[in-house]
Amino acid sequence: MLSEGPVNRMQYQIVENTPIAPGVFLLDLAGDTSMVKTPGQFAQLQIPGFYLRRPISICDWDEGGMTLIYKAVGQGTDALSRMGAGDTLDILNGLGNGYDVNACGKRPLVIGGGVGVPPLYALTKALLAAGKQPTVILGFNKAEEIFLLDEFQDFDAEIRVTTVDGSFGTKGYVTDALPDNYDSFFACGPLPMLKAVYKACGTTGQLSLEERMGCGFGACMGCTVQTRNGPRRVCKDGPVFRKEALAW
Ligand SMILES: Cc1cc2nc3c(=O)[nH]c(=O)nc-3n(C[C@H](O)[C@H](O)[C@H](O)COP(=O)(O)OP(=O)(O)OC[C@H]3O[C@@H](n4cnc5c(N)ncnc54)[C@H](O)[C@@H]3O)c2cc1C
Ligand code: FES
Repeated sequence: MLSEGPVNRMQYQIVENTPIAPGVFLLDLAGDTSMVKTPGQFAQLQIPGFYLRRPISICDWDEGGMTLIYKAVGQGTDALSRMGAGDTLDILNGLGNGYDVNACGKRPLVIGGGVGVPPLYALTKALLAAGKQPTVILGFNKAEEIFLLDEFQDFDAEIRVTTVDGSFGTKGYVTDALPDNYDSFFACGPLPMLKAVYKACGTTGQLSLEERMGCGFGACMGCTVQTRNGPRRVCKDGPVFRKEALAW
């Protein structure tokens, strides 16, 4: 049995669990979020009937609760999608390092793809609060898969959208919509997108990685990746890594 160590384990009540795009659900949870410190951190959800917790990024939070957005891709997230208002979830919260909002210049790029988009919502909010002028690029496969766009468009920031099939915004990938002027980047999305961004963006950057996870808090080493600084745990040393630390 894994020890959960000094991690914040809490019960959260589901306020809402609603589809917002095909197979994608917005999960609003009420409960203590005092352990959530910075955008890009994640929560480990104990879905009833499943031994291993499932990691989901924190999209946004306030003192009374938090919002997660997840895609139903397998048995765990499918079971989660069938839970409803009033149900409770046991969660290890405030995990991972998150993005360093201060480690960027005045004009950062924020780049998200698919279900990598949610944590960038709180990140963009934090960058604006820190006086930065972010440009946001959101990439999806096609128009009907787009979510959170209205919410991003409420920000005082330039929002660009790409779709692979060209049904909305710029046709192509996030790297087809890069602006001329930016001094750093923040990215979250599927590995091929992260690698393309890593190669296309000449500036410093912070990239959020995904790995299959066991414990989620640094104890099992199951999420280890190789970096220029040696092996690192995505759950504890990440999920956000500096571009310079990655040897891609
Ligand atoms: C730090 C972190 C943050 C994440 N944030 C989000 C989020 O905000 N929204 C969201 O929808 N998903 C997110 N994920 C991915 C999410 O954890 C998985 O989709 C989920 O655990 C799948 O559980 P399942 O039981 O439904 O699927 P399983 O039955 O376990 O697997 C189904 C399929 O999903 C793939 N899969 C499972 N886990 C992962 C993973 N960690 N990364 C990539 N592919 C996986 C499997 O290879 C398989 O093809 C995040 C993952 C990590 C590590
Ligand atoms: S999942 Fe156990 S060390 Fe990262």
